[in-house]
Amino acid sequence: MKSSLQEQPDQLESIFTKALTSNRLITQDAVLRSDYLPNKLPFRGLQIASLGEILAPTLHYSKPSNVLIYGKTGTGKTAVTKYTMNKLKETSIANQIPLAFIYTNARLCGTEYRLLAEMAAATNLQIPFTGLALTEVLSRLENHIRRQRSPIILVIDEVDYLVKTYNDDLLYNLTTLSERITPSFISIIGISNDLQFKDQLGARVQSRLSEEEIVFPPYTVPELASILKERATMALRQGSYTEAAINLCAALSASEHGDARRAVDLLRVGAETAEREGSEILEEKHIRLALQKIDQDRVNEALKTLPLHAKLLLLGAATASHPTQNYVSTGALYETYSNLAKACDIEPLTTRRASSILTELHTLGLLSAHLVNYGRYGRTKQIRPQISLDTIQKAFSEDPIIGTITTKKTQSPQTPTN
Ligand SMILES: Nc1ncnc2c1ncn2[C@@H]1O[C@H](COP(=O)(O)OP(=O)(O)OP(=O)(O)O)[C@@H](O)[C@H]1O
Ligand SMILES: [Mg+2]
Repeated sequence: MKSSLQEQPDQLESIFTKALTSNRLITQDAVLRSDYLPNKLPFRGLQIASLGEILAPTLHYSKPSNVLIYGKTGTGKTAVTKYTMNKLKETSIANQIPLAFIYTNARLCGTEYRLLAEMAAATNLQIPFTGLALTEVLSRLENHIRRQRSPIILVIDEVDYLVKTYNDDLLYNLTTLSERITPSFISIIGISNDLQFKDQLGARVQSRLSEEEIVFPPYTVPELASILKERATMALRQGSYTEAAINLCAALSASEHGDARRAVDLLRVGAETAEREGSEILEEKHIRLALQKIDQDRVNEALKTLPLHAKLLLLGAATASHPTQNYVSTGALYETYSNLAKACDIEPLTTRRASSILTELHTLGLLSAHLVNYGRYGRTKQIRPQISLDTIQKAFSEDPIIGTITTKKTQSPQTPTN
């Protein structure tokens, strides 16, 4: 015991000395973080101009149209909106025009109440953390905005989360609130990466919210390469990366759709990998390693954030799957799932609800489902988990409910029964 204690300071000393003396590749960590807002956004001139045109009437006290901004993930929606808001804010301050700017993210807020509380806090209105009815919060907000007399530009990022979790009532209430406080107003900018989101809005909200729409196309490979070169120049030591590594980052990030977030993430993780290896230069091999790590992290994140019964069903599918053929019938899966749920003191869902969760897991790519016809013996669905049992167990090991059973042995039928 004593000797290991004595060994530790030396061990740490060498780690810390290495950190102090090594020539780091990354010189500006913040520039590679996902919340970094660059002061130039190339290839988004059209979208910036459209949003600017739509919001410009606020500078002469007129209410602009509400806007819906669409585009796949990593296409610059949040960056462009924040950038345009910042510029408008600078102009309004310079010209002493009263305008309040509020940025919210529906997913990060989590609840309608939190979203309203954030709006209130941004306009200096104190609202208790919980406890009030939504209508009460809305009415306090309305009175307060009336008194303050400064029109509001409200961004609701990831707005689809709000509508999917609740419905479109809050959006409706905010648009009608805006109509009641004329000549003041709340101008809403909704952002979504779900291109079908508009169809989930009722007609009354749809027409009010999407008075204007701006679409963000995915970036092309050369566009991503150019964005990455700009970042690398700012964030990495000069001469510490190859052009081939940057180009590979761009190509890999465009393999699904041109996603600038994935591109910057790959660059950061690649550079960190090279640093850890003690390499002087960021090369293609580091980007390939970074890709593996990022994909693994994504899968883990997706697994950890699944709802409870989805976790149980996925765990059931992986545990009950045929060891060599790697599939399980829905009947056997349901049985294993029910046993797992009971082991956690949870009431299993009905087969119908379980089946709709299986469809969601299929959509997420976590398992696949094929209908197999056995002729006169009928038909059955074969469920194949797409993630290994080991990965699933590791991801769930910290879950407060399932964590305790992931290490226990569970029933594992060897043949696909119905
Ligand atoms: N034109 C650009 N130039 C430089 N960096 C950009 C550009 N577009 C996006 N980025 C960077 O890429 C990352 C992702 O952009 P952003 O967060 O705006 O994507 P998003 O469209 O909002 O994605 P999501 O739908 O997932 O929220 C950010 O770090 C952002 O700074
Ligand atoms: Mg965004």
